[in-house]
Amino acid sequence: MSDTFFTVIPYVAAGVAVAGVARRWLSRAPAARPAPVAPWTTSGRAVVGGAAIVALNHALGLLAPRAMQAFNASPGRLFTLEAVSLIGGLLLLWGLAGLTLRRVREGQWGAAGLLGLLLLQSLSGVVLAVSLRWGSAWYVHVVVPYLRSVFAFQPDATLLAQAPFIVQLHTLSGMVLLALAPFIRARPQPVTAPLLVTPREETAG
Ligand code: HEM
Repeated sequence: MSDTFFTVIPYVAAGVAVAGVARRWLSRAPAARPAPVAPWTTSGRAVVGGAAIVALNHALGLLAPRAMQAFNASPGRLFTLEAVSLIGGLLLLWGLAGLTLRRVREGQWGAAGLLGLLLLQSLSGVVLAVSLRWGSAWYVHVVVPYLRSVFAFQPDATLLAQAPFIVQLHTLSGMVLLALAPFIRARPQPVTAPLLVTPREETAG
C-alpha cells in the first residue's frame, strides 16, 4: 500500500469526524418531554458487549503500551487477553450480522450498508487476530508507534508499511469507520429507528 495512504487518510478521516460532530451539535433537537425508548435486541446487546471488549483492547495498547507490554510478559496473561478479545470480536461479529440481516429484511438499505461496513471491519479484525496471533503483543510495536506519530502530526508509517496487507487494511479502514461514527445514531430513541433496535420492537408495547 502506498505511503501516501498512511499519511493522508488519518487526517481526512479526522476532518470528516470533526464535520460529523459539528453537524450533530448544530442539528441537535431542543430538549423535549422524555418519551419511552425501545429496548435493545439481543443482537444489539451483543454488539455493545463485544464492542466494549474490543474497544478496551484497542485503546489499552494505544493509551498504555508499557502497561500492556508488562501485562503480556506472562504467557498465561497474554493468552487470557487474546482469548477474551477474540470472544469480544466474535460477539461483535455475531451481533452485527444479526442487525445487518434484520435491516436487509426490513429493506432499510442505508442502515444495512452502515452496519455491513462495521461487520466487514470486524471480520477483518477477527481474521487478523486468528491469522497473526498474539496481536496484543505486536500491536504495541507495529501499529501503536504509527498511530502515535499521526497524533503528533509527524506521520511515520515505516513499520506499518512493512506489515502484512490485512494489518494495513484493518488499520486504515478502521480510521475511516471511526470518522463515520458521529454520523451513527446507536442509542434507542422514540422517533425513528436507530441502529441497535428494530422497527418492529419500537412499535411493540
Ligand atoms: C485505527 C483503528 C484500528 C486499529 C489500529 C486496529 C487494530 C487492530 C489490531 C492490531 C488487532 C489485533 C489485536 C489482537 O489480535 O489482539 C485488531 C483486532 C480487531 N479489531 Fe481492530 N483496529 C482498528 C479499528 C477497529 C474498528 C473500528 C473495529 C470495529 C468495527 C475493529 C474491530 C476489531 C475486531 C473485532 C478485532 C478482533 C478481536 C481481537 O482479537 O482483538 N477494529 N484491531
